[in-house]
Formats: sequence, C-alpha cells, structure tokens
Amino acid sequence: MIKTANNEAIAGAAEIIKSGGLVAMPTETVYGLAGNARDGAAVAKIYEAKGRPAFNPLIVHVGSAKDAGEIAEMSAQAHAVATAFWPGPLTLVLPRKADSGISELATAGLETVAVRVPGHKTARALIEAAGVPLVAPSANKSGSLSPTTPAHVADSLGDSVDMILADGACAVGLESTVLDLSGDVPVVLRPGAITAEDISHVLGIEVGYAAESGEPDAPKAPGMLLKHYAPETPVRLNAVDLESGEVLLAFGSIRFMGIKGGGAAADLPDSQIRNLSEEGDLHEAAANLFAMMKALDQPAHTRIAVMNIPEVGLGIAINDRLRRAAEAG
Ligand code: TXA
Ligand code: MG
Repeated sequence: MIKTANNEAIAGAAEIIKSGGLVAMPTETVYGLAGNARDGAAVAKIYEAKGRPAFNPLIVHVGSAKDAGEIAEMSAQAHAVATAFWPGPLTLVLPRKADSGISELATAGLETVAVRVPGHKTARALIEAAGVPLVAPSANKSGSLSPTTPAHVADSLGDSVDMILADGACAVGLESTVLDLSGDVPVVLRPGAITAEDISHVLGIEVGYAAESGEPDAPKAPGMLLKHYAPETPVRLNAVDLESGEVLLAFGSIRFMGIKGGGAAADLPDSQIRNLSEEGDLHEAAANLFAMMKALDQPAHTRIAVMNIPEVGLGIAINDRLRRAAEAG
C-alpha cells in the first residue's frame, strides 16, 4: 500500500510500527525498511522481507543525539561529529549501552550499535510519532540496488511491507557514511556523502577509509569488515540427542530428545536450556538467536548443542550465523 506522506499517513505508519509491522520510509539517502528496533520479531521480519542470507547488523534511527545517547556510549568524538553532521547522512558505530533495549538481532549480537539521526522531515516525523527507535536497512531485496523512489520499493519488496510512505525521490541517493568510532582510531567503513576529509576537519585528526570498504554500492564490503559475534563455548549443530555435559539450544519440541548415558533433555535445569521457538516459528527463533546463544555461552558449559533449523526462509540466515558460531567456538 503506497500512501502519500501526509500527517494522516504518518500517524497510520506509526501505528503499524507500534504493532510490529514494517513501513518503507523515505530518508535523505535512500528509502529504508523501518521497524521497531526494540521488537525482535519485527526485526526478524525485516531480514525475511529483504531475503538477507545473513544477519548483518542494522542502523538504528533516532530523533536526536540525545536519543542516540540512550542507546550508545557517545564519546567526545561522537558528540563532535554529531553536532557537525546530524541530522544527516552519517551513521556512527559506537559501543552499545547494556540497557539500550535494542533487539540483539538488530545488532547481530555485537557489542556495538550503528546509530543515525536522519535529516528527512518524513523520517523524523515517523520516528517522533512511533516514539521508538527505528531500524531501517535499505528497502530492497538483498543484492539489488538501494531504492531512491517509492516505485523502486514497491518493485523490490511488494507485499512484504505493510505501508510505503511516499515522499518523492531521495536527495542524496546513496547510503549514509558509516563511521566506526568504537575502536582506537576513527575509520570510515562505508563511504558516503560525508567524506573522511569532512570528518577529519571536525575531529582535527586524520581519518581514513577501511581498506576493504571498496565501492559504496558493494553491499558485502562493510559486512565483511565486521567482527562477528563468536561464542567462547564450542557449538555442535544438528543435534538429535545430547552428549553428557552439553547444554541445549532447542528449536521446536524437545519432548523426545534424550541424553546419552541416560535422562531427558526436558529435565535439564533452566540455566542449561533455551528454546529458540517451541512452536518452530523462524521469526521467533531469529529474534531469540543472539540473546539465547549468549545466555548459554558460559565458562561452565563445555558445549552448546543446537537442534536442526530448516534451511528455508529466515532459517538460511539463522543457519549462516550458527555455522559461523560452530566454526569460531
Ligand atoms: O543511508 C542509510 O544508511 C540507509 C537509510 C535507510 O538510513 N540504511 C542503510 O542500511 O543503508 P543498511 O542496513 O543497508 O546498511 C547498514 C550498514 C551495513 O554496511 C552494516 O554492515 C553497517 O551499517 N553496520 C551496522 N551496524 C554495524 C556495526 N555494529 N558495526 C559495523 N558496521 C555496522
Ligand atoms: Mg543496503
């Protein structure tokens, strides 16, 4: 449903966001596929709509630097660039606040969070009306070009978005600059309209581009620079029963799952078992994935056994992360 972005449509879009739906919103860079950043199931729907084969972390859109400070640790450098470039096409990667309430899926289990205060009046009005931070990747299928008009969004996403807030073509037309301020030195992970030189002027130090960042449109490049969340505890996939000493990351019913040497998985203490989704719902599983992996990733645990997740839809992205976890552990 395409709606011209007037007050009534924005109010309707805010209701959709609050009830867990998805809205394509215009920003000054590209159209974003927006959902409530605190609602794990909504975030899972975004990955599904995009057909992302992996959970790249998403940008959290807020109304002001003050609101960004509720989610992320704003250093002196962060305040300086925020004052200079926000609202605008700049995203900051910052240490995530423990009590930010942002879905672990949105930040892909990382200790950092990407935040941006967009400049577009409709995006700003939607953030305000929804009253929650919005995650918004570009509103296109994974692997296709980022959309800069409402028609692009409709062509790419069709019915998987509940409303397209139409407000003409995007002024910048290129995704925001992603500046990583979480490390020892600031580095631009994704080039955009605000250049490393612009940022250098504000910070008074040399700021470079991450070597592999490549073309602005190459969607994989910044993702490849990411440190992925890696559990310390070894991970075993496709478990059909438990070895003794293992803890369980379940999916679906565990009624018939046994423990080798005796016992039933269902009798494990609460601290040793998490169920991604008792009903076998992939949205729920995706929303729970990182938080549950972290909960089971304890020094006292020798190994995390993970039940089979079907390799369909969101299951492809869930399995992508589980395989990485199994390799890392
Ligand atoms: O202009 C934009 O930024 C648009 C509009 C809608 O705001 N959004 C956008 O989102 O381009 P997306 O999801 O397509 O790109 C997010 C980028 C990815 O390159 C991702 O790897 C990076 O931000 N990113 C997000 N969180 C990160 C983190 N914690 N650490 C490093 N990179 C991160
Ligand atoms: Mg994108």
